[in-house]
Amino acid sequence: MMSVSLLLSHRVKAGLSVTEASPNLPLWLLAELTYACPLQCAYCSNPIDYSTSRQHELSTEEWIRVMTQAREQGAVQIGFSGGEPLVRQDLEILVSEAKRLGYYSNLITSAVGMDNKRIARLKEAGLDHIQVSFQGADRELNDYYAANKSFDHKVAMAKEIKRLGFPMVLNFVLHRHNIDQIEDILELSLTLGADYVELANCQYYGWALKNRDHLLPSRAQLCRAESIVKRFRKEQAGNMELYFIVPDYYESRPKACCNGWGTTFLTITPDGLALPCQGARVIPDVDFPSVREHSLQWIWQDSPLFNRFRGNAWMKEPCRSCPEKEKDLGGCRCQAMMLTGDAANADPVCDLSPHHHRVLEAIERAQIGNGDIANSQIINNKNKEQPLLFRNPKNAKQLKS
Ligand code: FES
Repeated sequence: MMSVSLLLSHRVKAGLSVTEASPNLPLWLLAELTYACPLQCAYCSNPIDYSTSRQHELSTEEWIRVMTQAREQGAVQIGFSGGEPLVRQDLEILVSEAKRLGYYSNLITSAVGMDNKRIARLKEAGLDHIQVSFQGADRELNDYYAANKSFDHKVAMAKEIKRLGFPMVLNFVLHRHNIDQIEDILELSLTLGADYVELANCQYYGWALKNRDHLLPSRAQLCRAESIVKRFRKEQAGNMELYFIVPDYYESRPKACCNGWGTTFLTITPDGLALPCQGARVIPDVDFPSVREHSLQWIWQDSPLFNRFRGNAWMKEPCRSCPEKEKDLGGCRCQAMMLTGDAANADPVCDLSPHHHRVLEAIERAQIGNGDIANSQIINNKNKEQPLLFRNPKNAKQLKS
């Protein structure tokens, strides 16, 4: 997901005042148009049991109703995401409707399914911004991790996006096998004229959690990458903005995930469920409200799901008496659920959490290896029961059973 700092920076550029934001408005609407995707990223944020079946996806009219209601609730920015949003043939209609409603719109794409004509049509429809994801700095690594020969096409599309005058974010999800390419990643971004580069270290949810032992970089890899980014940031000040997002696992205090549950982000899944974050489907014992059955006003303001972790009344110790609770809000609810089995626990990334050892153990396992593909084979051999699992229907089925 796009970082909050990057979101706010877009809003400023869009002429939307940050100070006009009041608490608890769904400022950022993430429209996951489809789970269908030509790529198979092993760290995909879609749920493990995603379905590429298109028959339950919201229709064009339903999406327009969602966008209209979200705007009424205060949304100012919309991200068209997926899966791969270009799979939707009505994307141009949705973009032009977003324009009419006054949104600042982002397309979050792999660029697979894009061509020069389609970029021009999206421009004409009023799209404001495009984020293109790369899986590595060169053809070999990119195409391996995307499980799709897409590197050359991405490069060509990025050039066309810039030629048409779009502001462009390049997004690289960093992990053990591409983080050592950081200089090449930055050089590629510079060559392609990126306005922003999101160096988003992989966060361990969904598919990434299943593949964590393959993906988590070592501390040495992370420190090296961070120092190169710092140097590059200085050299390119005013030219290209860099966002380096450290993996939670290497922090000693958690982040206020999604800027706080139910405060800023609203995600709508392809089949119309409304979620406070992309990971929320791991929370048990809740009815996920559907935009087919409820108004967004009720969902945002009154639904049990969106109120479940608002504020801090739900907190248990050690969060409840922690002086930093207003700052980090207990961290990520989904991570607490996945690593401790209780979403109301402190995020185990916090070194005050009684479950922090689970994060330390994962870090310890990550200290071996040097981050190349050959090393992936070593880990695969050590971990024969679970090789790297690419996101595809076969692996989804296997994980479910
Ligand atoms: Fe759900 Fe962090 S991803 S609260």
